[in-house]
Amino acid sequence: MPDSSHTITPDQLRSRWWFDNPENPGTTALCIERYMNYGITLDELTSGKPIIGICQSGSDLTPCNRHHIELVKRVKDGIRAAGGVPFEFPLHPIHENARRPTAALDRNLAYLGLVEVLHGYPLDGVVLTTGCDKTTPASLMAAATVNIPAIVLSGGPMLNGWHGAERVGSGTVVWEMRKRLAAGDIDYPEFLARITESAPSVGHCNTMGTASTMNSMAEALGMSLPGSAMIPAPYKERAMVAYDTGERIVDMVWEDLRPSRILTREAFENAIRVCSAIGGSSNAPIHINAIARHSGIELTNDDWQAFGYEIPLLANVMPAGAYLSEEFHRAGGVPAILHELLNAGKLHGEVLTVNGKTLATNTQGRETLDPEVIRRYDNPLVEHAGFLNLKGNLFDSALMKTSVISQGFRQRFLSDPDDLNAFEGSVVVFDGSEDYHARIDDPQLGIDERTILVMRGAGPVGHPGGAEVVNMQPPEVLIKRGIESLPCLGDGRQSGTSGSPSILNASPEAATGGGLALLENGDWLRVDLAKGEVRLLIDGAELDTRRTQLEQQGGYRYPAHQTPWQEIQRTLVEPLDQGMTLKGAARYRDVARLNPPR
Ligand code: FES
Ligand code: MG
Repeated sequence: MPDSSHTITPDQLRSRWWFDNPENPGTTALCIERYMNYGITLDELTSGKPIIGICQSGSDLTPCNRHHIELVKRVKDGIRAAGGVPFEFPLHPIHENARRPTAALDRNLAYLGLVEVLHGYPLDGVVLTTGCDKTTPASLMAAATVNIPAIVLSGGPMLNGWHGAERVGSGTVVWEMRKRLAAGDIDYPEFLARITESAPSVGHCNTMGTASTMNSMAEALGMSLPGSAMIPAPYKERAMVAYDTGERIVDMVWEDLRPSRILTREAFENAIRVCSAIGGSSNAPIHINAIARHSGIELTNDDWQAFGYEIPLLANVMPAGAYLSEEFHRAGGVPAILHELLNAGKLHGEVLTVNGKTLATNTQGRETLDPEVIRRYDNPLVEHAGFLNLKGNLFDSALMKTSVISQGFRQRFLSDPDDLNAFEGSVVVFDGSEDYHARIDDPQLGIDERTILVMRGAGPVGHPGGAEVVNMQPPEVLIKRGIESLPCLGDGRQSGTSGSPSILNASPEAATGGGLALLENGDWLRVDLAKGEVRLLIDGAELDTRRTQLEQQGGYRYPAHQTPWQEIQRTLVEPLDQGMTLKGAARYRDVARLNPPR
């Protein structure tokens, strides 16, 4: 139950050490005079008002979050109305589509920067403005490490994209149009025109890609106001919830409602289940496992299978379904999903959320308003919508969403017509996405409808940050014959907007000694979904010989570092199944306690 005994008094505010500390007059005066130089009054700084940080993730470089530049005006109104003083500051920009080599490289960089800001400046609480894929996990990871009162405000998804009467979803349209371009159905100008139709307004991706998933996860974890995650960016309700968020963070400071009271084991189990029900991105396990680690909770991909696999798909939203985030919001959004799961006995209802109430209280009466878009638990779109955690003689963990495997696809690969869960094929291996693009149409590779495409060198070390390249398109000649997808396996990631049946995030990766480095073209793989296994069908002695040879050659080669951060991150980064966090970082917990010294 919510515990109201956690209240604090003005003299316990953290910011008092900087702004009202007669024992340290020089430092205090210096701090005060400079913050007054643009018009803040002495009274605001010294009369016991909470100082609230607003971590601004929007900028011209981060268009998905740029709407926050407007929204924070309402956040500040809310903070002032509740008696706080807002201080806005920037988050290191992370834009999924433009950052090269990959936006994932910056999740940990933004995390580190935000930890230092929250630890080192006079802040009593923080509003985390989120949106584009990695901005949400970076912010939540930092809030967990620092452990000052924190609340997430999503900028919201874009409005629906349209092509005539047809919905056009962010990212998902790209995968579709790339196939049509490859097949010669459309030319490049039409390709561009069709893709830009998916982005009709401010906001982040309007599909259930990583952005919508991670903002829904933030709400499912209890870190944003109920119903706020998926309000489309341009709606008036989006600005209203910005105001409410600003008001609420001030009360959270007085209630000393810190992330450690919200981000519990139970909350993470809830998030896993919600991820399955919304058809969430395959990037979610990486980010949720990372947030959990920084919260002091060991969450593994086995937990994703144990809690998430059985949960059915309820959200009829692209890429798994037919609609987009506007319909999802109108049908009741995340609260309607929580309502269905809670009624089915699949959630911990007693967990605390940022509004000081339990998840069960927040979801009372929030049933789906449109059962076509948000399905009832007993009438889902597909059963078993979660991830299987596959293992075998090539890696310790790789994720697969089996619900997206079509019957036709299974038939093509069956090794035994009576066993729908096992399939076999020979592999063609690519070392990174450039190698793939250069060679995929090479007839010498002999790719046919029974080939398994393997991508390696795409993990967080091989391709700094980990590339979203595992969902590989078949060669043009196969697409023209109607074979639109082949099974893919890789040590990289896959875009959350892609619904391809891939085996992803294989850990450890080739670049750090993982078994994918040992694969050769023509090797035969067996995937057994019932056993949760992927096996390379060669004998152990041959595998050992290959390993010795690779070690003698100095191990798997990957491109040189291009920047200091790439080198630092490659030295410290942990595998994808462990959340791609930085080695040693998770042992820093509750660091706001350490600064200022009391
Ligand atoms: Fe930013 Fe999808 S590219 S949210
Ligand atoms: Mg992405």
